[in-house]
Amino acid sequence: GFLSGLGAHAAATDSAETSSGLTVDVLVGTQTGNAEYAGEDVAAAARAAGFGANLTALDDVSMERLAAMTTIVVVTSTYGEGEMPDNAELFWEALASETAPRLESARFAVLALGDSGYDGFCQAGKLIDTRLEQLGAERFEARVDCDVDYEDAAAEWTANVIARLVALAPDQAGSPASVAAPVGRARSPWNRKTPFGAELAVNRLLSSPTSAKEIRHLEFALAESGIEYAAGDALGVVPRNDPALVAALIEALGVDAGEATPHGELRDALVEAYEIRTPSKELIARLADDDPESELGQVVALGQKETLEAWLWGRDILDLLLGTRVRWPIGEFVELLRPLQHRAYSISSSPLASPDRIHLTVASVRFDGAHRRHGGVASTFLADRVGAGETAGVFVSPNTAFRVPADDAVPMIMVGPGTGVAPFRAFLQERAGRGARGRNWLFFGDQHRSSDYIYEEELETYRQDGVLDRLDLAFSRDQAEKVYVQSRMAESGADLFAWLEDGAHFYVCGDASRMAKDVDDALHAIVEVHGGLDHDGATEYVNTLKREKRYVRDVY
Ligand code: 2AM
Repeated sequence: GFLSGLGAHAAATDSAETSSGLTVDVLVGTQTGNAEYAGEDVAAAARAAGFGANLTALDDVSMERLAAMTTIVVVTSTYGEGEMPDNAELFWEALASETAPRLESARFAVLALGDSGYDGFCQAGKLIDTRLEQLGAERFEARVDCDVDYEDAAAEWTANVIARLVALAPDQAGSPASVAAPVGRARSPWNRKTPFGAELAVNRLLSSPTSAKEIRHLEFALAESGIEYAAGDALGVVPRNDPALVAALIEALGVDAGEATPHGELRDALVEAYEIRTPSKELIARLADDDPESELGQVVALGQKETLEAWLWGRDILDLLLGTRVRWPIGEFVELLRPLQHRAYSISSSPLASPDRIHLTVASVRFDGAHRRHGGVASTFLADRVGAGETAGVFVSPNTAFRVPADDAVPMIMVGPGTGVAPFRAFLQERAGRGARGRNWLFFGDQHRSSDYIYEEELETYRQDGVLDRLDLAFSRDQAEKVYVQSRMAESGADLFAWLEDGAHFYVCGDASRMAKDVDDALHAIVEVHGGLDHDGATEYVNTLKREKRYVRDVY
């Protein structure tokens, strides 16, 4: 995520010393901050080589500015199934359009971040890379597509980019920047690779036992970690796999738990280092190849992606192993596994209310699969397997785009059904802690009021105290017809539009696949009706909100 102030900050770091030399424009598209880190590293390396460097979010780059750039480095992640990250959407729209400028005088290079577990791996980077070339810019370094373990590949690519620029423009480097100007915020010493072992001090069921869901309130003690955070940030949690599942896997493989792997003994490695639920594409292919007569082998042979995906739903690696005759040398098994990834959860507290503990609001993922009951890797780790006094590896993943307004007088509209309420609990704590006068409006909902109204007392107290000016609830299954948060938005469309006209920021958190899309549609419809605009006019109005960072989302 990006602060809107970043552009100004980055411009200021372009020192006079290098102003006659080569300036590298590092353009970043980020969803969770990884691309921002990688972009910061490129900018820092460029400065260390004596070049000038600007770091800018893609959406902050107009086509006019782009056309004036000479050395463009794009670092972008991909969101979901091949989509642009939220802060690159508008840039891509303009770049892809027929009216995009010619870029013959520019050279460029693209670093793409992604997750090979998804279709559309690194798609955003691929699209931008192709389009820049189409527009006439010269690719001076080949694109690299990084998987979730991106750090080493990104560092190598960055070194190559800088070496290439030095070779291309040996006389254009100024003297290396004497002060290593920090770009953006200071980085925490705790990260994905070295998480802080935080004690899970509270683990409490929030939803009622009769709910269809199991939502938990968790508190991690920050102790002497020095960890700082802001309302809107996420907490990365490094999970450990279920030892019972690990034991079952080892038995299915028919191997010794003490066998050596690149990450130590097999049993420990399967607990700590590998993703053991979701099979990699390679593992699926290998199993199907090895046992074409198995159900998996037959489904794969159909060659239909949707059929395979549907069949795989509710089946994990153990199911696949038990359903096929495994013949390949078992030592190769771990090579077909993906690394165990951290999971990021929106923090549900503000440091003003809770400086020493980070709160999370987590739905435990549990469901009946094809053969057994399944549990989400990280959510059940937190719910079931971190005992009293035990620790979990955590680190703060900043989301600098997702913040309460800097100006305390500015109104906020928050849409957060289910666990999507998490960052808004943090926002309300933050606004209350600051004594902010700006109005606050929350849309919350879930299936049933009686079992799913989490943080009810706190929210009702905020309403009574006037911290919450409006609280609109949508319990979808408490009446015959479905009522969703966007239904409540539409009912109060005139007021909602008036708040926007008063400068309100509009926030959405929660389900990306359905809710966030429908809320986006509802927002456009409200702007169209109450702003007296046509379809294009409403789109432009909402795009302006995005550009002004007044429409921001934290969706997953
Ligand atoms: P439902 O399951 O009763 O349809 C949190 O999961 C809440 O989001 C539930 O009340 C759920 O309703 C609701 N929900 C489901 N689909 C939605 C959508 N497309 N937009 C908004 N809310 C939705």
